[in-house]
Amino acid sequence: TYYQKDAEGVTNELFMIMYPLKLRGKKIKYFMEIARDVTEYRKLIRDLQSSEKRLRAILDTATDAVLSIDENHRIILFNDAAQSIFGYSREEVLGEDLNLLIPTKYGDHRQYVHRFLERRESDIVGKTIFLTGLRKNGKEFPIELSLSFLEMANGITFTAIIRDMTVHQQLERKLLQSERLAAVGQAAAHVAHEIKNPLMIIGGFSNQIGQRLEDEKDLQKLEMILDEVRRLEGLVANLGDFTKEYRLVKRHADINSVLADVLEIMSGVCSPEKYEFKKFLSSEVAEINCDPDKLKQVFINVISNGLEAMTDGGTISISTETLPDGIEVRIVDQGSGIPEEDLEHIFEPFYTTRERGSGLGLSISYKIVEAHGGEIWADSSPGEGASFIIQLPAG
Ligand SMILES: Nc1ncnc2c1ncn2[C@@H]1O[C@H](COP(=O)(O)OP(=O)(O)OP(=O)(O)O)[C@@H](O)[C@H]1O
Ligand SMILES: [Mg+2]
Repeated sequence: TYYQKDAEGVTNELFMIMYPLKLRGKKIKYFMEIARDVTEYRKLIRDLQSSEKRLRAILDTATDAVLSIDENHRIILFNDAAQSIFGYSREEVLGEDLNLLIPTKYGDHRQYVHRFLERRESDIVGKTIFLTGLRKNGKEFPIELSLSFLEMANGITFTAIIRDMTVHQQLERKLLQSERLAAVGQAAAHVAHEIKNPLMIIGGFSNQIGQRLEDEKDLQKLEMILDEVRRLEGLVANLGDFTKEYRLVKRHADINSVLADVLEIMSGVCSPEKYEFKKFLSSEVAEINCDPDKLKQVFINVISNGLEAMTDGGTISISTETLPDGIEVRIVDQGSGIPEEDLEHIFEPFYTTRERGSGLGLSISYKIVEAHGGEIWADSSPGEGASFIIQLPAG
């Protein structure tokens, strides 16, 4: 290539080719030179390159994943957000089949592309739909996807804009749970109120009759009646707790010493040969503004559940830690664990898997923690026990 200034002083880029001319049987004597002005052509390429760079920058600052596939279902575009959402690097996925990013239970995704290519129509092009994606770590997650296609000389490209809906779905679930709690709460308050007085009468008269009974068997039966009455009274009290609008009585309190109190109570009610408590209380945990009596109830509920889940005995570990704006309490047991499908229900009122459980312990705990502006949730792999995590804000 040569550069040459023209009459107006503009530099032009010339592309020159020189051909040797060989006349039959003679030595090379002549050369022919062809020059082509490629200035425009070069400029076009440069423009294209910078426009591609611009597009790339836009694609990579987008918070939604953008990915394209060709007719053969191979991934040909994968922006930065796609890398962080799916967990793969661009190098790992470019040229790979799209099925890599779709849970196998949804079958071979290629059939949809085939169908589209045959009929040129689809239910999903141009619409927003909800699907499930698959991350590199094997975890499935909810996505919102909108799809478009582009037909060009060298084939069809499908481009999807994908949003990770994990956080959105969690918030939605929480909202639903709060609404459900409110509705059930009203019904429960009514029932509790109706049961309270008859229960008092049953208990009171049973006691009176008991004083006159002599037959051993009758006395046993009466003891059973009184047992059940006490259980129902406990339930009614729990219902009251559950339906109460929580008015916290806040003061500055040291959660470590609240936990120490709770452990002392709990050690008193369970056999020391069977159950052990281990404390990992961080000395850095500062006092927080809270209602320690209500929180005591939360810790007792969670620890009781742990004890009940460890029918053969075991250890419950209780640890505290500071957070940037508050504290975290972790209560870990070695019990039966909670199946994944139950995890999202355990904080619902009346949800129980125990024969004599009321299913209120955790929903009351949830309300108390919520009233503090904190969070409570559970983690568990079945067979490996359960962990309950309680986060409380400092103020
Ligand atoms: N640590 C745990 N290990 C295994 N399962 C648990 C654990 N904690 C809670 N669960 C499950 O969650 C359910 C709800 O717990 P929750 O404390 O709300 O009610 P409950 O213990 O059944 O009854 P209540 O506490 O009102 O007497 C339990 O029935 C149990 O299935
Ligand atoms: Mg319980």
